Amino acid sequence: MSLLFSPLTLRDLTLRNRTVIAPMCQYSAKHGVANDWHLVNLGRFAIGGFGLIIVEATGVTPEARISYGDLGLWDDAQIAPLARIVDFLHNEGAAAGIQLAHAGRKASTPIPFRHGFDETEAEKPLVGFESWTPIAPSAIIHPSNSPGYTMPREMTKADIAATVRAFADAARRADAAGFDVVEIHAAHGYLINEFLSPLANERTDEYGGSREDRMRFALEVTEAVRAVWPQHKPLLIRISATDGAEGGWDVADSVALAHELKARGVDAVHVSSSGVAAFGLTAGPLFQVPLSKSVREAGVKTIAVGLITEPADAEHILQTGEADLVAFARGALDDPNWAIHAHHVLDGQEYDLWPKQARERVRAKDRTLHQRGFA
Ligand SMILES: Cc1cc2nc3c(=O)[nH]c(=O)nc-3n(C[C@H](O)[C@H](O)[C@H](O)COP(=O)(O)O)c2cc1C
Repeated sequence: MSLLFSPLTLRDLTLRNRTVIAPMCQYSAKHGVANDWHLVNLGRFAIGGFGLIIVEATGVTPEARISYGDLGLWDDAQIAPLARIVDFLHNEGAAAGIQLAHAGRKASTPIPFRHGFDETEAEKPLVGFESWTPIAPSAIIHPSNSPGYTMPREMTKADIAATVRAFADAARRADAAGFDVVEIHAAHGYLINEFLSPLANERTDEYGGSREDRMRFALEVTEAVRAVWPQHKPLLIRISATDGAEGGWDVADSVALAHELKARGVDAVHVSSSGVAAFGLTAGPLFQVPLSKSVREAGVKTIAVGLITEPADAEHILQTGEADLVAFARGALDDPNWAIHAHHVLDGQEYDLWPKQARERVRAKDRTLHQRGFA
């Protein structure tokens, strides 16, 4: 049996395999509430055999959302529609995770598949349109050629304390919804990443300046979430291991952060990159895997992500100790059954990941067509 399709236990949670669906914003919620789109979109990945499915960046406050179409968990009314999704994922054998997020200065941006803020006045109430002034460690606008970013307001200490509490409150609601895993979003140039990076944080109080002080907000959020997130449930965090920009946060900083996160009860670090500066690392096949390897060498479990599309590559990453789990985003949009198909590629005539409704039918088809090793 491949390592990719062997179970992995984190605290009391045993994943059926080591494939992960990375969080993917759908920009399809109204007032932060999940709907049928989220159920079907995420459900197909559970039917498709993935081990852990992480729900998109979910705002811990209304102004934490990247756009008005993001999911949220700032209100108890947002729990039940997510619980319905969790139940479905569980019924199909997958574990359910949720990424808790604050977009910081990259909040209140247009829906990417629209053409900027092109909502007509008549349409606005129908789509739940909202816009607001973002908050950030410093009043520095996100550097980008794409329009849609707003000059943020610098957070006061009261804002910082309230945001830490909002992460913890959202984690409590995630537990109520039945999630197995929470992932704190500290990557991609959003709020926590902004505190970490000297390119976005020019504070002169104890939340800025030295690396230790820039890490303070990330560690306070982690401690607050861990304090309310049940001890038997794993806690993940997603980081940008490097800004990929001169003078920015880099791999050595991430290794130091990983040590501190592990000491505070983080079970695995999901290793991504970039997002603070106008440009980051150049993408290519497996381009972020070396970052995962470096963070893992700090003695913490990692999830590798980023243009990993071939089953043999995913298996190689695990076999060579570059990560403990492998995550997929766009490849899974392209083939929601990627995990089932990869299981066949790596392990041959294994049909256990197919849902019971399809399993024997697909086997019969393969036998008739002499596929997947049938003579
Ligand atoms: C549609 C879409 C939405 C995304 N939304 C999120 C998100 O909510 N949170 C996050 O951390 N990353 C997000 N990402 C980044 C992915 O999780 C992933 O890291 C990235 O796409 C690289 O993996 P891939 O090459 O397998 O697609 C998103 C990516 C896509 C394609």
